[in-house]
Amino acid sequence: MESSTISNKAHSKASKLLRISVISWFVVVVIGQFIFALYIMGLYGVSGLAGDFERWNTASPHGYVVNDVWGNIFFGIHMAMAAIITIGGPLQLMKKIRARFPRFHRFNGRVYISGAFLISLAGLCLAWVRGMVGGLTGALFISANAVFILGCAFFTIKYALARKLDVHRRWAIRLFLAMSGVWFFRVFLMLWLALWQGPVGLDIDSFEGPALNMLYTFSYICPVLFAGLYFNAKKTKLPIRKIAVSVFLFFLTMCIAVGSAVATMGMWIPGLKA
Ligand code: HEM
Repeated sequence: MESSTISNKAHSKASKLLRISVISWFVVVVIGQFIFALYIMGLYGVSGLAGDFERWNTASPHGYVVNDVWGNIFFGIHMAMAAIITIGGPLQLMKKIRARFPRFHRFNGRVYISGAFLISLAGLCLAWVRGMVGGLTGALFISANAVFILGCAFFTIKYALARKLDVHRRWAIRLFLAMSGVWFFRVFLMLWLALWQGPVGLDIDSFEGPALNMLYTFSYICPVLFAGLYFNAKKTKLPIRKIAVSVFLFFLTMCIAVGSAVATMGMWIPGLKA
C-alpha cells in the first residue's frame, strides 16, 4: 500500500515535470517563431508591397530574378505562406484557443493545412527549378522536409475528418514540428556558429559540409521522430522515462533559446536593416 502511494506520487511529480518541460519548450518556440514572422513580414512583405522586389535578395540570393515571372510569383507565395503559417501554427496547438474558439480553430486549421501544401509545393519548385543555397544536398534535405510536411498534413486532415481526435492531435503536432523545420535549421545553425565562433564543418561559400548535413537531419527529420518520444513519455507509467524526456526537452529549450537569440541578433535584425 505504502509503496504504491510512493509510486503514485513519483508518477504525478514526473508527469508535472514533463508538462512544465513541454510548456517551457512551447513558449520559447512561440516567441522565437513570432520574431521570425516579423522578420518575414518586415523584409519580404514590406518590400513586396512597395514594389521594391530587389530587396528580396538581401537574405536569399534567388529571391527576385529579373524576367522569371513565375519563379518570382512562387517565391512571393512562399513568403506570404511563411508569414501566415508561422503565426497561425502555434495558435492551433493552444488548448485554450481550441476550447474557447472552436470555429477559429477550424478556420485557422484549414488555412494552416492549405499553407502546408502551398509552401511545400512552391518550395519544391524553387529548390529544383531555380536552385538554392546549399546545392544538391541542400535541395535533397529540404525536399525530405517537404515530403514530411505533405505526409503529416494528409494524416492530420484524414483523422480530423474521421473524428479520431486523439490521433488527429498527434499528427497535428508532428505537422507543426515538420513545418518548423526551416526555423529549427536557422536557429541550430546560428547556435552552431556561435558555439564554434565560426563556420566549423561547413564551407560558407558553397554552403555545404558535414556540419550542415547533421543540422539538416536534426532540424528537418529528427523533430517529427522525437514527437514519438514525447507521446510515449506521456502514456508511460514509468516516472524515469518521463524524467528523461523532460530533461531532454529542457536541454533542447535552452539550445533553442540561445540559437533564437543569436539568429535574431545576427541574421534577422541585420536583414531588416540592410
Ligand atoms: C514550412 C515552412 C517554411 C518556411 C516558414 C519557409 C520560409 C522561408 C524563408 C523566410 C525564405 C527566405 C530566406 C530567408 O530570408 O531566410 C525561404 C526561402 C526558400 N525556401 Fe522556404 N520555408 C518553408 C518551407 C520550405 C520548404 C518545404 C521548401 C522546399 C521544399 C522550401 C524551399 C525554399 C527555397 C528553395 C528558398 C530559396 C532559398 C535560396 O534563395 O537559396 N521552403 N523559405
